[in-house]
Amino acid sequence: MSDKHSAPEKPWTGRFTEPTDAFVEAFTASVEFDRRLYRHDIAGSIAHARMLAHVGVLTEAERQAIEQGLTAIREEADRGELPWSIRLEDVHMNIESRLTDRIGIAGKKLHTGRSRNDQVATDVRLYLRDEIDAIVRELVRLQSAIVDTAEREADTIMPGFTHLQTAQPVTLGHHLLAWFEMLQRDRERFLDCRKRVDSLPLGAAALAGTSYPIDREFTARELGFARVCENSLDAVSDRDFAIEFTAAAALLMTHLSRFSEEIILWSSAQFRFVELSDSFCTGSSIMPQKKNPDVPELVRGKTGRVNGHLIALLTLMKAQPLAYNKDNQEDKEPLFDTIDTVKGSLKVYADMIPNMRPLRENMVEAARRGFSTATDLADYLVRKGVAFRDAHEIVGKAVRYGVESGKDLSDMTLAELHAFCNVIEEDVFQVLTLEGSVAARNHLGGTAPAQVRAAVARARTRLG
Ligand code: ARG
Repeated sequence: MSDKHSAPEKPWTGRFTEPTDAFVEAFTASVEFDRRLYRHDIAGSIAHARMLAHVGVLTEAERQAIEQGLTAIREEADRGELPWSIRLEDVHMNIESRLTDRIGIAGKKLHTGRSRNDQVATDVRLYLRDEIDAIVRELVRLQSAIVDTAEREADTIMPGFTHLQTAQPVTLGHHLLAWFEMLQRDRERFLDCRKRVDSLPLGAAALAGTSYPIDREFTARELGFARVCENSLDAVSDRDFAIEFTAAAALLMTHLSRFSEEIILWSSAQFRFVELSDSFCTGSSIMPQKKNPDVPELVRGKTGRVNGHLIALLTLMKAQPLAYNKDNQEDKEPLFDTIDTVKGSLKVYADMIPNMRPLRENMVEAARRGFSTATDLADYLVRKGVAFRDAHEIVGKAVRYGVESGKDLSDMTLAELHAFCNVIEEDVFQVLTLEGSVAARNHLGGTAPAQVRAAVARARTRLG
């Protein structure tokens, strides 16, 4: 933060006789964080200037000077050479002051018919629209990585869990496609939220609109907004679009935290279901054997800050009277950190998933333990005419015998099984295999390898 640029004057000092208290100046300034909006602020200003020229409020020469000046300032900022000043409070006044330094009187006309209130609401919407597009691109990249892995692992058998206890065998491909579905809904939520972000506040001015003959539809077209905000008081004051975005982000992070938890468990010595690439792990400074899954752990941990930002934004908005209040300046840091966290987490996940090696033997071995085909045996008995509740009881007894004798159901002899129910015949061994168990669940949404392949094909078309 530099102040060398000749101690610039604030544009609102006319009615003041005393200078701003030094601490208050720093306390109320937002330029340290809102300067990241500079490209969108400049795009909004150029569109506004074009509109003012279009309706005859600015001359063509003034518009041209403004546009050239703002373009040069953007290049200056891109090079990191724009001197940002805390005395000028925020990104908007910094850029406007720089423009006047560069082009003189025309620069002072840029703010005609607008206020920082509609300006900042426009900037945040423009910025967030771009960031949603970037997030959606990363989501698609992660979903594609998941679909590719699911296709490769369509036949890989692992234990499916409920209560983290072995339940029934599933295919790894099927398990991974559950992650895909969660991310698909997340993507839809972001795209739906984008529709409401895509609305132009400019023209609302401070709160009531402006007395100049503005053409808001013209500005909206210039900025590629789908529509204009209908009510000036609402346009400058509500931040529900940012709250909605953060809510979608919190849900996405919640999903990533669930994937993380599974990857962390799966890569432990107790499970050994997957091996993460060394490039996504770190070691311990004291325990030489350690290879820690820091990446999924960090993503799981970062869920907390995004949930926190959601609560911060909801609380910020609560009970604010119409119209703009300075409270709203506090929307930026939670929103920006949410965007950074989501983008970083998605990027690292999209890079990590293709590098995660399934340890297929260990997964099958785990599915073999834990009586995962007990339901299949019960269903077999039902097909032979036993009522389901009786079948459940019979298989329960067989499992108890298995626990006591250290045998899986498929390890028992026909005579042993027959002792529990005399309808059991030689064909029982087909249903007690893991392959038979997963193949039998052959319907839309089921775990059978054939269904996984069909779901993979559908997922690819849904990715577009
Ligand atoms: N920095 C302010 C914000 O982020 C810009 C709008 C300021 N408007 C005002 N009337 N003080 O909300």
